[in-house]
Amino acid sequence: MGNTRVTRLQKSASVLAHVVMAMLLSGCSGPQSALDPAGLEAEHVAQLFWVMLIGAALVWAIVIGAAVFAGRFQNTPISEKAGLRIVLWAGAVFPTIVLAALLIFGLRLLPVLRAPGADMTIEVSGEQFWWRVTYHPEGRPAVASANEIRLPVGASVEFVLTAPDVIHSFWIPSLGGKIDMIPGRTNRLILKPTKVGTYRGACAEFCGESHALMAFPIIVMQPAEFTAWLERESADASSPVSPAAFLANGCGGCHTVKGTEANGVIGPDLTHIASRQTIGAGILPNTPEHLGRFIAATETIKPGSRMPSFGMLPAQDAASIVAYLGSLR
Ligand code: CUA
Repeated sequence: MGNTRVTRLQKSASVLAHVVMAMLLSGCSGPQSALDPAGLEAEHVAQLFWVMLIGAALVWAIVIGAAVFAGRFQNTPISEKAGLRIVLWAGAVFPTIVLAALLIFGLRLLPVLRAPGADMTIEVSGEQFWWRVTYHPEGRPAVASANEIRLPVGASVEFVLTAPDVIHSFWIPSLGGKIDMIPGRTNRLILKPTKVGTYRGACAEFCGESHALMAFPIIVMQPAEFTAWLERESADASSPVSPAAFLANGCGGCHTVKGTEANGVIGPDLTHIASRQTIGAGILPNTPEHLGRFIAATETIKPGSRMPSFGMLPAQDAASIVAYLGSLR
């Protein structure tokens, strides 16, 4: 009996240790971690974090050390003069020097994080609850997209950030710090990805019912691949599947599919939706099953969204719409 209890205890302790380890490790790496930088700004933010953490840990160790020393080993009272000296040096001079050094270190990073002169501009607008993305390639017409951002590795990109109605916050932890998207204001953020890969961004300011369902993948590509991708993204939709059901059910009133009559701007541009990794702003994998579910139960999957559920569509129409969207590469 006693032995089983011990084993059980050991087992629970081991499970707990694994959970804690997993939590600690998952917080430090992965596609959405500020401590696993894949961009120049994120590297600076991570550096600032580690220097501050080590600085704080040292100060903590010194304070605890002094407290233990005073409580355990300093058994005779000290003179008033010696006490005042400790207050002056340890209570005023030491913290002033340490805090000033950390402040100067932090301020020195600012010019790097705000350096002007980007290679490319991307406008992102925070909507309820998705991301309107517009690429502005040099000397070429703007390219509209949504809910996914692609970037060439090594290029510095200026994000021009706005919002039409409520405040959101644009955050790609792997690439850099976050900044609010405020109605009536334009905020700018320059990021320079340094590693090819897929990362995850998220809205970092409570913006309404589906705030937690507002994410997006960021795909950092080789420059040549990016140029080819942008070329495809700027093209009109070409599909062997008929858009008839999509258009007849009024989807084009809110969504644009370039090259068709669908030219709505309330919802995300769907011209190349099949080439995106996720649907619903980073919340579901882009598969026909998920697309069908999302269209039928939008209000359940994404509460507060402007798109109503289309569960009442005849099965034939719903299937045709899913097939059409699935063909828009
Ligand atoms: Cu958008 Cu929170």
